[in-house]
Amino acid sequence: MCGIVGYIGSRQAYPIIINGLKRLEYRGYDSAGICIVNGEPFLAKQKGKVSDLENFIGNRTLEGTIGIGHTRWATHGEPNDTNAHPHISMNEKFIIIHNGIIENYGLLRTKLEKRGYKFYSETDTEVLANLIEYIYLKGNVTAEIAVRLALTKVVGAYGIVVVNRDDPDTLIAARKGSPLVIGVGEGEYFIASDATPIIEYTKSVIFLNDNDVAILQRNQMTLKTIYNQSLEPNIQQLDLDIESIEKGGFEHFMLKEIYEQPRSIHDTFRGRVSTNPFDIHLGGLYNVLPKLVEAKRIILIGCGTSWHAALVGEYLIEDLARIPVEVEYASEFRYRNPIINKDDIVIAISQSGETADTLAAIRLAKEAGALVLGICNVVGSSIPRETDGGVYTHAGPEIGVASTKAFTAQVTVLVMMAILLGKKKGTLTQEKYEELINELNLVPDKIEKILLSETIVKEISERFKDARNFLYLGRGYYFPVALEGALKLKEISYIHAEGYPAAEMKHGPIALIDDTMPVVVIATKDSSYEKIVSNVQEVKARKGVVIAIVTEGDTTIKEMADYTIEIPEAGEVVGSLLSVVPLQLLAYHIAVLRGCDVDQPRNLAKSVTVE
Ligand code: AGP
Ligand code: GLU
Repeated sequence: MCGIVGYIGSRQAYPIIINGLKRLEYRGYDSAGICIVNGEPFLAKQKGKVSDLENFIGNRTLEGTIGIGHTRWATHGEPNDTNAHPHISMNEKFIIIHNGIIENYGLLRTKLEKRGYKFYSETDTEVLANLIEYIYLKGNVTAEIAVRLALTKVVGAYGIVVVNRDDPDTLIAARKGSPLVIGVGEGEYFIASDATPIIEYTKSVIFLNDNDVAILQRNQMTLKTIYNQSLEPNIQQLDLDIESIEKGGFEHFMLKEIYEQPRSIHDTFRGRVSTNPFDIHLGGLYNVLPKLVEAKRIILIGCGTSWHAALVGEYLIEDLARIPVEVEYASEFRYRNPIINKDDIVIAISQSGETADTLAAIRLAKEAGALVLGICNVVGSSIPRETDGGVYTHAGPEIGVASTKAFTAQVTVLVMMAILLGKKKGTLTQEKYEELINELNLVPDKIEKILLSETIVKEISERFKDARNFLYLGRGYYFPVALEGALKLKEISYIHAEGYPAAEMKHGPIALIDDTMPVVVIATKDSSYEKIVSNVQEVKARKGVVIAIVTEGDTTIKEMADYTIEIPEAGEVVGSLLSVVPLQLLAYHIAVLRGCDVDQPRNLAKSVTVE
């Protein structure tokens, strides 16, 4: 999720580490820390910016030619000094920094506690540090073996660098799911989450693969798998500049984040959904689940894209769990003197967790005595701190102002929540329950497939980049997606666009249709397919230009529409996760063709912390 830097060689490590962490600041983070080894390790870590850490260290001379550093994007344990990395094992044998999520940390922690281990933090990372130490001491094995064996017991994603105090002239790095790059110098090695901290020192790099372990000493590197299979290092020469590395080779953060969605959606349900046995576990709702199951009314509140996710949530929860849901714009809810009953459950949806209107709305709900929950992406932000529970979306930092992976992560949480509530209330049969969980598990791969259609979307964007208005139409679960597609286009290309329920066309909007008006229709094969076909025919009868999102292999719509973008077959419960992706790409490419500032659109901020 966030940033790692390591160094072993003959230079002073501290400047390399601290400047490397600054290079990684673009990734977003909430706390930072370092460890410099010079015989005895020196640790400094705290909540806040890298510059705060630097000021905290002050003028202390930190001698040492080995070091590790970390910028944290919290997933387990809120951002504070204690939960910041590096983490140190109980007997102080191991110091570790970690990017990623250890899904089975709870089980591992319980086992270690039974063997006398005590913990000082709430993080999953500290559990790994103690697991490595336990194996090291109990098994009387080398640090490398202890690290490898521990990682075979870990379920989840990690990029780690480990220091063993008994062997302070070695760094052990390992990767599974969270990227790590090794820079190869003369008698020195660099480790980082991406090449930005490395490239000023060397362009010779090794990209670690999943299950790789690298044992680094000043004049030698050993590469193997966690299963002790030796590997031949594949040293590549980097020819990217720093800015393109920060964007992962993409032109903009927004496109990078659109492409991250298969992984970010997987991270959202990682450790929360299982198929053996079939189960959904949302830890942050554990204490309030009975109240949710018995709720007479759930009020979902949010702004912008988060409000669109809330709308999908309404359809999901009413459809699957039969609990009445209302959706409110936070900015309206806070001022319209709403009726809020004590047994209402209010759920705030917010990527940043800092949106002023949403914060004000939950405070109003709390004053009225309602149970207030949050679905947020930033751990430890204001909304999670002020609510009675909730679920983190685990989408990782979203840098682009236009929300993409945060939206699909929010919807993924709502899908899990609706399925869980449906199961608990008995409104879902076991068969349907399993079918929906299987559907959700298939979403990342299906989005990977949709991303392959970017070229088609680019061609369509060429055709419509100068359009003055767009209409987006959808039915059922796809109505909120139509709204979201319109917002994406508006906010980054500055073209006016409206989203509408497709059936509403005949109540007015159809008067807008002519051969200059592109109409984007989500027309996938599901319960309202026949109806949406008629809507497409209505538009075509008035010479409208139709861009249709269709289920792959659909020839009916293909014959009517001017342009079609195919997406894989999927149940409509997860349909919004798939159908939004082509709309994100369409907005992106039209904006790029119009020369707009895609990552920082005019007049907009990533988090609207003012009214
Ligand atoms: C969406 O692309 C916009 N960036 C904006 O509508 C955003 O969704 C809204 O400001 C809410 O932000 P939040 O999710 O951080 O509360
Ligand atoms: N899961 C770890 C934590 O919450 C690491 C998070 C990260 O990738 O920064 O501390």
